[in-house]
Amino acid sequence: MIDAKRADAMLGGGPKRIDAQHAKGKLTARERIDLLLDAGSFNEYDAFVEHRCHDFGMADSKITGDGVVTGYGTINGRLVYVFSQDFTAFGGSLSKTHAQKICKIMDQALLVGAPVIGLNDSGGARIQEGVDSLGGYADIFQKNVLASGVIPQISLIMGPCAGGAVYSPALTDFTFMVRDTSYLFVTGPDVVKAVTNEQVTQEELGGAGPHTTKSGVAHLAFENDIEALARLREFVDFLPLSNRHPVPERSTDDSPTRKDAALDVLVPTDSTKAYDIKDVITRIVDDGNFFEVMPDFAKNIVVGFARLDGQTVSVIANQPLVSSGVLDINASVKAARWVRFCDAFNIPLLTFVDVPGFLPGTAQEHGGIIRNGAKLLYAYAEATVPKITVITRKAYGGAYDVMSSKHLRGDMNYSWPTGEIAVMGAKGAVEIIFRHVKDKTQAEADYVEKFANPLPAAQRGFLDDVIMPSQTRSRIIQDLKMLRSKTLKNPAKKHGNIPL
Ligand code: COA
Repeated sequence: MIDAKRADAMLGGGPKRIDAQHAKGKLTARERIDLLLDAGSFNEYDAFVEHRCHDFGMADSKITGDGVVTGYGTINGRLVYVFSQDFTAFGGSLSKTHAQKICKIMDQALLVGAPVIGLNDSGGARIQEGVDSLGGYADIFQKNVLASGVIPQISLIMGPCAGGAVYSPALTDFTFMVRDTSYLFVTGPDVVKAVTNEQVTQEELGGAGPHTTKSGVAHLAFENDIEALARLREFVDFLPLSNRHPVPERSTDDSPTRKDAALDVLVPTDSTKAYDIKDVITRIVDDGNFFEVMPDFAKNIVVGFARLDGQTVSVIANQPLVSSGVLDINASVKAARWVRFCDAFNIPLLTFVDVPGFLPGTAQEHGGIIRNGAKLLYAYAEATVPKITVITRKAYGGAYDVMSSKHLRGDMNYSWPTGEIAVMGAKGAVEIIFRHVKDKTQAEADYVEKFANPLPAAQRGFLDDVIMPSQTRSRIIQDLKMLRSKTLKNPAKKHGNIPL
C-alpha cells in the first residue's frame, strides 16, 4: 500500500501528462530536482500528501503529492531546500495542502539556515478550493518576508506564474526565468484585452524578454530548463547559506599577488572615450570568473558575483560603455537592491566608479530620480559589510558621494591615477563659474589641472591611496583579509525607512 502510493507520487499526473510536459520542451518537477541537486542527495518530505477538498468533484480526484515536490539536498555539498511545482498534477495549481508543503520546508530552512529554491510551474490558485488556496499564498508571502535577509530565497520560473502567484517570486531575492516556456504577469492577455483593449501575447506581456530588459522583475533568463538549472547551481555556489554563515570559499590557482599590466593602459586618457568596465572586473577577480546578474537591465551599471582569493565578493560598477555609466532611475534601483542583498548576507562590496553624475531631464526628474537615486545612497550608507572602492576615472557630483565614497563609511577607497574627482566635468564647470569670460580655454585648463586628478581627494584623506591599476587585485585581496574581523553595527531600530 505504502509502496504503491509512493510509486504514484513518483508519477505525478501520470505518463500522458508527463509526455505533454516534455512536448512543451519542459522537464518534470522531479527531473528538475535531479538536475539541480547533487546526485542522490535529495530527501523528500510529504510525498503522500493529498488535498482535502470535496467541492467540484475533487473528492474523487486526488494526485499523491498534490502538485508539488518538496525536500532538501545539496548543491556542491552545501545544503539547500527546494520545492518544485508539478504541472502534470492539477496544472501545478496551489491548494491549501500544496501551500502547507512549501511552508513546511521554508520553516525548516529558517531553523537550520539554508537557502530556499522554488521551481515555479503552476496554473495559480487551485480554482476548486477558493479562499483556502488564497490563504495558502498569503501564508507563503508571510514566510517569504520573515525569511528575507535571513536565508537566500531564489525563484526559478519554469512555466506559468500568474495572478497572486507572482508575488512570492517578487518577494524572494532573485527571480530567474526560462525563455519561451515561462511567463509572469498579474493579469493575462485576455484580461488585458477586456480592460484596456490592448492586444498582447503572453510572451510580450510577461515573458523572460520584457522582464529581464524592461520591468527588471527578473534577474536572469536562460534558454531551457537544463541550462537554467546548471547556472542556478553555479549561482548558489557564491552565496552564504544564511545571514549567520560566512561567505563560501572555493580554492583557486589564481595567485593573490598576480599583476595585470594591461590594466595600466586600459582606461583611455581622453575622458570622453568609453571602455568596457567588465574588462577591468574580469582582469582583477579570480580566474576571470564574473557571474553577472541583471545583465540586460540598466546596463549602465554592472552588478554580479566574483571571487577574490577564493572568497565571494559582490561587484558593483558603473559601465562607461552605456550612457557613459550615468546613474538613472533603473540603475539606482538595480544597484540598491543588490547592495542590500549583499549587506544582509555579509558579502563584501567591491565598487568600481566611473560616473559622470545623475542623468538630467524631465523624464528622470518626474520619474523620481531623487527618491530612486536616494535608494542607492541609503543602501550604501546603511551597509556594514567590508566596502572597498576603486575610482577608475570620473567621480562627479552627488554620484561621487553615492558610489561607496569614504564619507559613507568606505573602508578602503582608492583611485587609479586616471581618477577625476570633481563637482562636474571641466567644460560644464567653466560654463557656470566663468559664464561672463569670453575665452574659457585657460579657465578650463586650470580646472582640469586642479580637479581632473585624484590628488585633492587624497590630500583630504577621502582616498586612502592612489594605486596603479595593475596592483589592484593584490591590494584588494590584502584589504579583504584585513577586513574579515570588521564589526560595525547600526543604531538599534525597528527598521529603517528606505525611500521606496
Ligand atoms: N486550478 C485548478 N486546476 C488548474 C488550474 C487552476 N488554477 N490551472 C490549471 N489547472 C488544470 C487544468 O484544469 C488542466 O487539468 P486537466 O489536465 O485535468 O484537464 C491542467 O491543470 C492543465 O491545464 P491546461 O489548461 O490544460 O494547460 P495549458 O498549458 O493549456 O494552460 C494555463 C495553462 C495556466 C494558462 C491555464 O491552465 C490557466 O489559464 N489556468 C488558470 C489560471 C488562473 O486563472 N489561475 C487563478 C489565478 S491565481
